[in-house]
Amino acid sequence: MYIVLSMESIVISIGGSVILAEEADVSFLKKLVNLLKKFSKQYKIYVIVGGGKIARTYIKRGRELNLDEDTLDELGIEVTRVNAKLLTSTIGISNGDIPLTTDEAERIDKPIVIMGGTVPGHSTDLVGAELAEKTRANKFIIATNVEGIYDKDPNKYPDAKQLKELTIKELIKKYGTEWSAAGSNVVIDGPALEIIDKAKIPTFVVNGKRLDQLEKVINNQLFDGTRIIV
Ligand code: UTP
Repeated sequence: MYIVLSMESIVISIGGSVILAEEADVSFLKKLVNLLKKFSKQYKIYVIVGGGKIARTYIKRGRELNLDEDTLDELGIEVTRVNAKLLTSTIGISNGDIPLTTDEAERIDKPIVIMGGTVPGHSTDLVGAELAEKTRANKFIIATNVEGIYDKDPNKYPDAKQLKELTIKELIKKYGTEWSAAGSNVVIDGPALEIIDKAKIPTFVVNGKRLDQLEKVINNQLFDGTRIIV
């Protein structure tokens, strides 16, 4: 009898604001791709790409035109998929077509699988949490454009302090588990928190523009960011 040992998986939710930031030039994308390829020898890697500023621009304009919330979410989803297509086309050893669901993504037999959003009612954080649950991921990493989770909104309060760790229960108490509105810009969306809690997914928040820190999270080293205790 043979026992087939499948590779452990890592799920990374990377903000559109990271891959398409002003300073995220071609050399940044190439470095990100090299990092993903390097770790794909050790882990099966799933990356969910966000919509960033472009998604928010569409959603803002759609809202001014009085489009309903589901349609606004759908605009956001389309942008995440375009961003995912950009990333996957650069990698070469990942999927060509962007899967529409996490079930579809899970079935793709490639070392790296890239996708965007799925259905209205949440952000790509939930897609990442769902995929991490389904693949029993070793880690769920939220690679965003801030240095982790703060005690208060760092954009409003200059004295906001970065938290090295906090429990998922504390996060849920503070932010709840509801989806607020299309394009809402929170570090982790509420519905994703619920999955992280129920499935006890080891979750880490790091600034995705700092690839050295992202690498440290994957390597289980001390990193500059936030660990969520589940
Ligand atoms: P993002 O996941 O990009 O949200 O989805 P974000 O928090 O703005 O992430 P960054 O800026 O890339 O880091 C963009 C929007 O697309 C819709 C939501 O409206 C979300 O706010 N969306 C996305 C969905 O409705 N479902 C999905 O599965 C994904």
